[in-house]
Amino acid sequence: MGPFVTNAWYVAGWGTEVASGPLARTICGDPIVFFRGESGSLAALADRCVHRRYPLSLGLVKGDTIECGYHGFTYDCSGMCVSVPGQSKFPSTARVKSYPVVEQGPWIWVWIGDPDKASSTEVPKHPWLYDVGWRWIGNHASINCRSGLLVDNLMDLSHESYLHAGYIGTPEVAQTPIDSSIDDKAGIVRVNRHMHNVECPPFYSKSSGISGRIDRWQDIEYRPPCLYVLHSRIAPTGVLPNSDGSDPDAIHMKILYGVTPETENSTWNFYAVARDFSLSDDWVSEFLTEMQDAVVKQDVDALNVLEKVIASESGQVQELSIKIDTGGLVARNVLKKMRER
Ligand SMILES: [Fe+2]
Repeated sequence: MGPFVTNAWYVAGWGTEVASGPLARTICGDPIVFFRGESGSLAALADRCVHRRYPLSLGLVKGDTIECGYHGFTYDCSGMCVSVPGQSKFPSTARVKSYPVVEQGPWIWVWIGDPDKASSTEVPKHPWLYDVGWRWIGNHASINCRSGLLVDNLMDLSHESYLHAGYIGTPEVAQTPIDSSIDDKAGIVRVNRHMHNVECPPFYSKSSGISGRIDRWQDIEYRPPCLYVLHSRIAPTGVLPNSDGSDPDAIHMKILYGVTPETENSTWNFYAVARDFSLSDDWVSEFLTEMQDAVVKQDVDALNVLEKVIASESGQVQELSIKIDTGGLVARNVLKKMRER
């Protein structure tokens, strides 16, 4: 069993990161250079020149090609070497691996495994980052931990009550039981927690202006291995959505995470918070950016500690799971099966 699920789409970065030159990023252990050619085409190539292994990401984008900054070998977006200084003929083996790459909304997605399988697999939908009616903020963080620890963290939000108190956590989160389920056909793990008549944490009260007691729904949809969406609904206590699905008295946020392994012991966390209210209020975006960056930093700090603890242990250690872990355990199991396949 390999350490990574490779036949899957992973968030690799933001389109804005390739605006002014090549981007070097390691995904699932592979060093990759991402660049946008002058025609707008996006490429993802192995970040090593075939000649002397110099990283192509240190070179220059010229037209729709990238030129190695060491000896000038030049590659097109498919990874084929198209020119070598000083000789017109060179072996056809002068090419580097190219990876399927797709840009959807603000995110760049990459496929590490069998390229033939990429064409028949859709990038998981995340319309809140590109549809009208939503406004989002986002950023990314690198964590010195295995990706499974970030999945554990996101599937069990009871930690909000402790690690994120004063931001998104209130005591009721950990106190409210969850339902978890798996939709094998759609490949989705779900965890639902519906809190009734609870305190509204600052993340939601300050951004939306809602005051007083609320009903707070947390509906997680995780599409292993990469895309995690928390559907967050906040409404005055007792207010339910209409029978036609409209829900005008509630506010909704979609908290998205792209969980992307960098190496076996480090992980990229691409995150975004989309909202369906106060769309023209810049200060709400600024406030949510500040809050979400702080919340993610709390998780990053905790997971960095946890990875060190786990890496320092040898032999069997006890790990006790309780009811709130059911969603996380299902996710672990799905990921294990995907790795075995
Ligand atoms: Fe957290």
